[in-house]
Amino acid sequence: METNPFKPGRGRMPPLLAGRDAAQKSFKDVLQHLSGPSPGAPQDIILYGPRGNGKTVLLHWAEKHCASDLNYTVLSITPSHTTSLKQQLMDVLDTPQAQVTTERSGSLGISLLKALVKRSVVQSSQAQSLVSFLREKANENPLVLLVDEAHTMLPGWGHELLNTSQQVCKDAPFMLVLAGTPGLRDCLRDMQATFWARSNKIPLGRLDAAAASDAISTPLHNAGISLEPDVLSQVVTASQCYPYFIQLWGSILWDAAKEAKCNQIDQALLAKTWGAFDYKKGMLYQEYYEELKQKHMVPVALSIAQAFEGREAISDIELHDTVAGEHVGVNPPDSVLETVRELRKLDYIWQGSEKTVWHPGIPSLMTYVQTEAQNLEPDNSSDFSPGM
Ligand SMILES: Nc1ncnc2c1ncn2[C@@H]1O[C@H](COP(=O)(O)OP(=O)(O)OP(=O)(O)O)[C@@H](O)[C@H]1O
Ligand SMILES: [Mg+2]
Repeated sequence: METNPFKPGRGRMPPLLAGRDAAQKSFKDVLQHLSGPSPGAPQDIILYGPRGNGKTVLLHWAEKHCASDLNYTVLSITPSHTTSLKQQLMDVLDTPQAQVTTERSGSLGISLLKALVKRSVVQSSQAQSLVSFLREKANENPLVLLVDEAHTMLPGWGHELLNTSQQVCKDAPFMLVLAGTPGLRDCLRDMQATFWARSNKIPLGRLDAAAASDAISTPLHNAGISLEPDVLSQVVTASQCYPYFIQLWGSILWDAAKEAKCNQIDQALLAKTWGAFDYKKGMLYQEYYEELKQKHMVPVALSIAQAFEGREAISDIELHDTVAGEHVGVNPPDSVLETVRELRKLDYIWQGSEKTVWHPGIPSLMTYVQTEAQNLEPDNSSDFSPGM
């Protein structure tokens, strides 16, 4: 039985990783400095963007690139709230499923590496500090540490990670890659780290229309399914070029074509699929709306949605003025800054590489907020009490 090639869901590799050439090039440029005559990483990497834009899948790509094309050792972890960084790294290196990868090493290479690692673990648990352990490993073979969901780091774990990485990369080919939501910036700031400022930052927003179109049509085409041109453009528009919605559309169209036993999707078949897409989209928005409600952010989210109406972006000053509900100019009070940070953390608004403008984070969540707000009476919703 044929399986649907599309992968809507967290961290699932899409059948076509579309529109990330620039991000992949940035990665490759930095990574290649780890090998060669005078190895060393010029900068660590921060990959950041709102949920559902493809940070985890890009990390998967980077992991594969490091291991298969560059022959580096790669360790992949997510922050733990219960285990120390050292313990986590030891665990990753010492288990049969270790994410230690050596190019073309085959089983012999892997077992040799495990033997080496085991010896080091013993040494480390006896005396070696984490820094010297990692330095030793990196000097054997360039070492890349990938940390996904980095915005969830607790201060103690995060401090250890940043300090360790800073010391190791001084004299060994070692590089740290952090991936997280835009809240990662505040998380690092709270640790008083200059890491954000001095890292190579790669923002991950939505795809462009050509890439979104490719991401949907190529896997369908490879499965022998074509789309009428008009159908493709409608679907791309409805996906808002948001990677998660792109996979959702691809998956729904593939299912529809298989069920109808046809190999071309026309308007009539497309008409039957809207319900499925709207349902899944609605479920997602409901979740995000609940988060806004829990943080008492619905009224301010509504004002921002109104400010964005008919526009793709608004200026930094306009955003702050909207949040303050009055003119605050260039010196917004702390409470306004805090609200903006919280809304960024919730992916309601998003700032890519252009520092003076803001975009919607999760696409068309603002429209959902407006629709939901219309259904609420001020009297029966504490969200709409004055002064919220
Ligand atoms: N470049 C791309 N082309 C097509 N689909 C993509 C692309 N990047 C990601 N996707 C799809 O988008 C969805 C979300 O990807 P992913 O889970 O990596 O996002 P994320 O940014 O890590 O989200 P979160 O912050 O929730 O962890 C997945 O279904 C994935 O297959
Ligand atoms: Mg992710």
